[in-house]
Amino acid sequence: MSRQHWSSKTGVILAVAGSAIGLGNFLRFPGQVVNNGGGAFLIPYFVALLLLGLPLMWIEWTIGRFGGGFGHSTAPGMFHNLADKRRFIKYFGVIGIFGPIVIFTYYTYIESWLLAYSLFAATGRYNACTDHQSMGAFLNAYRGLARNEHFQGIGTAYVFFILTFAANLWIIAYGIKGGIERVCRYAMPALFVIAIVLMIRVFTLGTPDPAHPENNVLAGMGFLWNPDWTKLWNAQAWQAFANGEGFSMERLALLGTALNGKVWLAAAGQIFFTLSVGIGVILTYASYLSRRDDVALSGLTSASANETAEVILGGSIVIPAAVAFFGATATLQSSSSIFDLGFKTMPLVLQKSGFGNLLGLLWFGLLFLAGITSSLSLAQPAIAFLEDEFNLSRREAVTVFGVVTFLLCQMAIFGLGAGVVDELDFWGGTFCLVLFGAVETILFGWVFGMDRAWTELHAGSDIRIPGIYRWIIRYVTPAFLIVILAVYLIQDGIPLLLLRNVKPENTLAILMTRIVLLLLFALLACMVWIAWRRKEAGNSKEAP
Ligand code: ALA
Repeated sequence: MSRQHWSSKTGVILAVAGSAIGLGNFLRFPGQVVNNGGGAFLIPYFVALLLLGLPLMWIEWTIGRFGGGFGHSTAPGMFHNLADKRRFIKYFGVIGIFGPIVIFTYYTYIESWLLAYSLFAATGRYNACTDHQSMGAFLNAYRGLARNEHFQGIGTAYVFFILTFAANLWIIAYGIKGGIERVCRYAMPALFVIAIVLMIRVFTLGTPDPAHPENNVLAGMGFLWNPDWTKLWNAQAWQAFANGEGFSMERLALLGTALNGKVWLAAAGQIFFTLSVGIGVILTYASYLSRRDDVALSGLTSASANETAEVILGGSIVIPAAVAFFGATATLQSSSSIFDLGFKTMPLVLQKSGFGNLLGLLWFGLLFLAGITSSLSLAQPAIAFLEDEFNLSRREAVTVFGVVTFLLCQMAIFGLGAGVVDELDFWGGTFCLVLFGAVETILFGWVFGMDRAWTELHAGSDIRIPGIYRWIIRYVTPAFLIVILAVYLIQDGIPLLLLRNVKPENTLAILMTRIVLLLLFALLACMVWIAWRRKEAGNSKEAP
């Protein structure tokens, strides 16, 4: 079977930008800013962008193109060749297929809410909800978490889920050029135009409530751009740390609190999620390039497009609008989950802004476009794995992927109230990303070797990357990742593994989710084993 290719450089950049620009930019980012100290969050965020995001972008574009040269579009085959065919390295690559499948299972469900809400906005279906509480009641009933005058069950949400899921499979069945690239070519410019229209509308809101002149758009921008340094530095904890002696877990925890480790972790997690690095999807997209194609400038361009969409556009819509209408304190209080700003605050704000139905349609339409261009990329690694390593046709691979993920999605749909989506997001959308990023960086800078890696990165390149990045990729990025992983494990992983924050009635659902995830991982690892056994058997038959 001949390998697929992108039709042009713009096509692949738009596709990678499409993968990166998603719900993370317009929903997760404002939520993280609000919940992690406002402007103070941006400092660790930009540090993580420069020391983790950009290096990983370049690493993934390079490993992807390199692996594609050997006919592999997914991490197992890429790692196998990168590590000079050392036997076990390919199993680390399983994370790069497992992670995107896990994210896909809840991402498409959330994406389907956006399709539904676009229609609800256009038809004024939630217009009777005039405060956060009633918007919350509408959202909960829609998701089947409550019954009220709005919805009597999960039926409507399920129909929209089927439509969204089918749309994803339908597009992906057309392949790289005819499906993903074609959709991104139209969706990405449309997305930027809609975001700019919404941003202009927010900037012209001024001071909506004359009784509260302190609540205005400028105050909202200040909330995002004025760092409150005390949020990054807890003097009391530092004093207690400095007064202690010797090494102990308690002292380490004090240091974490003094430096506000939680904000640093949140910032690093956001960089991974938003750039789509550490997931495995950029490896796959870059594998459809040829060795003559540039990766250095393309990686930088796609990261810059994502950051423009996230910090400039994403940051200039939700937060200023919410602060202008409700004030900073109320915005903080009403944003405990990432859905609050997007599904409750924004529809309320837009309803009050003139042309509410149209603006609501634009807002949810924007999120839907951002979501679908990302979910397409999440589907591609597993499909490519079946095509490359098991010689399945595109149609067969899409069918297998469709059946398996459809079943997995049921966990997210029916387990939402029991915290299953959060559980999937921790393993698939947070932990695996950092782990996979660490594996890739060590393989690239240490196993493949920095000299070869630097030459590979610059093959066919349109720019020269500053030499300092050689040093960052080899030392700083892996060290940063290892620290993050260790802190994750101590701070979140151990309490999470021990189900410390799980309500007793949800324990069974969470344990079942973990069992399914373990089985899925084991299945993928077995598939890698089988694929390579078959290749080895094939090679020995060919040998005289
Ligand atoms: N990078 C994608 C997003 O931001 C997954 O939503």
